[in-house]
Amino acid sequence: MTGRGRGSRGWVMRSGPCRLGGRANFLGMADFSSFPAGGVAVVIGGGGIGGALAEALLDEPAFADVISFSRASAPKLDLLSEPSIAAAAKFLAGAEIRLVIIATGFLHGEGFMPEKSLRDLSGEHLAKAFAINAIGPALVLKHFLPLLPRAGKTVVAALSARVGSIGDNEVGGWYSYRAAKAALNQLVRTAAVELRRGRPEAICVALHPGTVATKLSAPFQKSGLNVRAPAAAAADILEVVTRLSFADSGGFFDQTGAVIPW
Ligand SMILES: NC(=O)c1ccc[n+]([C@@H]2O[C@H](COP(=O)([O-])OP(=O)(O)OC[C@H]3O[C@@H](n4cnc5c(N)ncnc54)[C@H](OP(=O)(O)O)[C@@H]3O)[C@@H](O)[C@H]2O)c1
Repeated sequence: MTGRGRGSRGWVMRSGPCRLGGRANFLGMADFSSFPAGGVAVVIGGGGIGGALAEALLDEPAFADVISFSRASAPKLDLLSEPSIAAAAKFLAGAEIRLVIIATGFLHGEGFMPEKSLRDLSGEHLAKAFAINAIGPALVLKHFLPLLPRAGKTVVAALSARVGSIGDNEVGGWYSYRAAKAALNQLVRTAAVELRRGRPEAICVALHPGTVATKLSAPFQKSGLNVRAPAAAAADILEVVTRLSFADSGGFFDQTGAVIPW
């Protein structure tokens, strides 16, 4: 079933019936009191982290509604289709959007694995990585940022990845994903500059969620890595979001709120 179901307090759109049980114990730690109450939180992407974020936000009293878009929602949002992004934005028209988290991404699949060497590069892989990790989120910014309230705290966060940091790249490999996330970071930074003009209290950032046990990271989880459950990662991300101030807009932060070099 694709549809819109009533959450514990707001509306959540998802591809199946609402799953309101089984929440983690981290909820309630983020303090959203710096946000105007009664707004709408939007999560784009129903994967491991996106799903956990939507679940966690359903319990946040600061938000009256939680809306989750994905390729399985109605309306659906496919990052490879600008009309679908525009339709999702139209669906939100009139809502007081206080939080948007873009939780989509592509690292492997459909025959592609992260490149170990230049000889592994292909135009198709590079194009797919850029389409999903950079171009799609940029089109989301294009259609969603004009909907933001002109006053009061609002946060737009795109989930990026530490490996998108150029300054932090000491191990190489993963060309497509790294480059696409670096492009995403630049797009977020540039949008933050533009956002300042009309919405001086809005904040636009790139966030690294840490290493999280999801489909995206599954083939790369090594022992010794601090791999976290999606619910724990979502709690960390929301806590960072609540601590952001306007001075942080245009920045790139990890799951503890520490600045990541570009
Ligand atoms: N997991 C980690 O360790 C880790 C580390 C660093 C950064 N990140 C970043 O965190 C974000 C979330 O990743 P995740 O770990 O939650 O991975 P995930 O579970 O694989 O979720 C990725 C999501 O992206 C969606 N997506 C892919 N192509 C799309 C498209 N064309 N249109 C709309 N949605 C599309 C997928 O949708 P479907 O469900 O429809 O396939 C899926 O819901 C990504 O930006 C990732 O790069 C994750």
